[in-house]
Amino acid sequence: MPEASISALIDEVRAQFQSKFGTDPDVIVAAPGRVNLIGEHVDYNDGFVLPMAIERYTVAAARKIDANTDTPDTAEVYSIDMDDTLTVALDDIKKGERGFWGNYVTGVLHGMVEQGAAIAPFQAVTRSNVPIGGGLSSSASLEVATATLVEALTSTSIDPVAKGLICQQAEHDFVGVPCGIMDQFASVLCQKDHLLLLDCMDQSFQHIPFANPDIAVLIINSEVKHELSGGEYAQRRSSCEKATRLLEVDSFRGVTMEQIQAKRDAMDPVVFKRAKHVVGEIARTTDVAEALKSNQWDKVGQLMYASHESLRDDFEVSCKELDVLVELARATEGVIGSRMTGGGFGGCTVTLVAGDKAAAVTESICERYEQATGVKPTAFVTRPARGAHQVV
Ligand code: GLA
Repeated sequence: MPEASISALIDEVRAQFQSKFGTDPDVIVAAPGRVNLIGEHVDYNDGFVLPMAIERYTVAAARKIDANTDTPDTAEVYSIDMDDTLTVALDDIKKGERGFWGNYVTGVLHGMVEQGAAIAPFQAVTRSNVPIGGGLSSSASLEVATATLVEALTSTSIDPVAKGLICQQAEHDFVGVPCGIMDQFASVLCQKDHLLLLDCMDQSFQHIPFANPDIAVLIINSEVKHELSGGEYAQRRSSCEKATRLLEVDSFRGVTMEQIQAKRDAMDPVVFKRAKHVVGEIARTTDVAEALKSNQWDKVGQLMYASHESLRDDFEVSCKELDVLVELARATEGVIGSRMTGGGFGGCTVTLVAGDKAAAVTESICERYEQATGVKPTAFVTRPARGAHQVV
């Protein structure tokens, strides 16, 4: 039995498949979005990240079609969300225009074929309830759903790390966002009731139990859209590279605050601030992972606030609306900690709340956020969900 959060999507995708293609799909897969508890903008700096999958998925259904001599080998993918059909020539996979949603799918098909997948012609339908542009990895969930669909259609399973890397490469080469590995790895690797502690240097990972019924994970969407391909993300990466060159190290891993302080005078002040965030955030992430093991919730909360402040003041990827949400959370009884999550420039905050207060806290923050900004937020509570899998 699929979880309740996927069932409605499955029904919708199946019905749409039948009406579009006049038959049932052979396979149905699901890949979740993610929320990152802490470890922001450190995945491309060889740091640690601590995401979990959320109960919001991209579901894809497909059926192989008989290759016949009249039609070329194509994959046809209809997105219910975009109300648009992507047609891919499987023997000559090319990316579409910049900004085209289909590039996420095409990029993954290209990567899978390069890795040796023998993809026969197929028809597919996709549907997602991961909010787009909310910093919850709607893109990664579509990429990982595509890779999982190919596995299901070809009755093969590829190594999860290789699968995450194919999806990340698709985002680099076909979408044009030089993202790190967190989002795709989270969508592939996460387990129900666990956080994923991912070491982005060697790509090793641990599943950390996170199923305390007294703690709820609240996600509030500022409804301010972020756009990572807008260039800011690439600029942050490039500032980090400047810092490591100056520090004469291969990456930030192992770099201390003392080391960056010692080079402060030689560094552009902006580059210094970026470096300070990265060094602090890598330490905060391992500290949270430790504090979680011993249920030190106050400490977890303080580290989340510190992460937000660092992203706001030093890495400069927050925005007014996210800051308002975090400050409102901080002033609300029952809140343990809160911070922006994901790439930034809008999107969501992640807030840990005492379980019995979750409904009241959500209502209170949302009401006051709307009063303060004039924007109506959306919010939901989620448990750590299961990573990508075949449902049918
Ligand atoms: C985006 C990227 C990730 C990561 C986060 C920031 O979500 O896709 O790789 O860098 O931003 O932590």
